[in-house]
Amino acid sequence: MSNLKIAIQKSGRLSENSRKLLEECGIKISNGANVLKTSAGNFPIEVLFLRDDDIPQYVEQKVADIGILGENMVFEKNKDVEIMEQLGFAHCRLSLAIPKEESFSGPGYFNNKKVATSYPRLLRSYFDANNIEAQIEEISGSVEIAPGIGLADAVCDIVSSGSTLMTNGLREVVTVVKSQAVIISNKNLDKSKQEILSKLLFRVRAVKNAKENKYILLNAPEEAIPAICEILPGMKSPTILPLVEKGWCSLHSVVKEDEFWERINQLKKAGAEGILVIPIEKMIL
Ligand code: PRP
Ligand code: ZN
Repeated sequence: MSNLKIAIQKSGRLSENSRKLLEECGIKISNGANVLKTSAGNFPIEVLFLRDDDIPQYVEQKVADIGILGENMVFEKNKDVEIMEQLGFAHCRLSLAIPKEESFSGPGYFNNKKVATSYPRLLRSYFDANNIEAQIEEISGSVEIAPGIGLADAVCDIVSSGSTLMTNGLREVVTVVKSQAVIISNKNLDKSKQEILSKLLFRVRAVKNAKENKYILLNAPEEAIPAICEILPGMKSPTILPLVEKGWCSLHSVVKEDEFWERINQLKKAGAEGILVIPIEKMIL
C-alpha cells in the first residue's frame, strides 16, 4: 500500500499550524529545518514541504495527493482539485488597500488606477463584477511596498492582523474574499489512498470539534437544574451527579467555545456555582 502524500507550506503563515494539526491527529513528523520530504512513523503518510503557491498545481498533477493551504490560494490558482475540509485556522482576507490619507468613495475609486497584487485572477473578477477599469500589476511578493515606491496606486493583498498594511501607511477599503486554511485533494485518488484520507479526515474533524467546544462542570441546587439544562444543550443532555451536600448536584456538559461566555452569565443567573471550563483534546460525534 502506498503512502498518502500531503503537501504543507514550508515556511509562512500556515506552516506551524499545519504541522501542529498533523501532530494533534497523532501523526508524528520529524522537524528537520531543510528537509523537503519526510514520512510519519505511525501513519501511512508522506509530508512534502512546499511553497503554498505551488500546492494547488502539485495536487492537480498528483505530485502530492492532498495539501493544506489557504482558500485564497486555492481560489486564485483555480486548479482542478477538491476542497475536503475547512480547518478553522489561518483566517485572513484578500483586501484592497489604498494610501491612508486618500479618501475613498467606493469601488469606483479604482477606475484608471494601477493596483499591485499577487492575486491577479481574483482581483480581475472583482473588478469585472463591479465594472471597474483598472490596471493590475502582478508582483510575487512585498506587494505592500508598491505604492510607496511609485509602482502602483493601491494594493490587493492578504490581510490577517492588519499590521503589514499599517506599517506601510495603507488602509483597507474593500474585502475581495475571505479565507481560512483547508485540505484539498486530487480528484482521482485510488482506493487505498482514499481510505487513508478518510482516516485522516476523521481525525481532523475530531481535533476541530474539540477546539470548537469546551467541557463545562458546575455545581447547582437541584431546583435550578431544569433552567440550567435549558441553557446547556450539550452533546446529548447534561450529566447530573449528586453532591455530598444535600439538595445539590454537579452538572457536566459541553459548550461551544464561541458561546460559552454568554452561557456562563446565564448559568450564574440561574444559580450555578463553581463553574469549571476545560479544554477537550478530541471529540468524536
Ligand atoms: C500576507 C501578506 C502580508 C501579510 C499580512 O502574506 O502578503 O505580508 O500576510 O499579514 P498581517 O495583516 O498580519 O500583517 P502571506 O503570508 O500570505 O505571504 P506569502 O505570499 O509569502 O505566502
Ligand atoms: Zn506563499
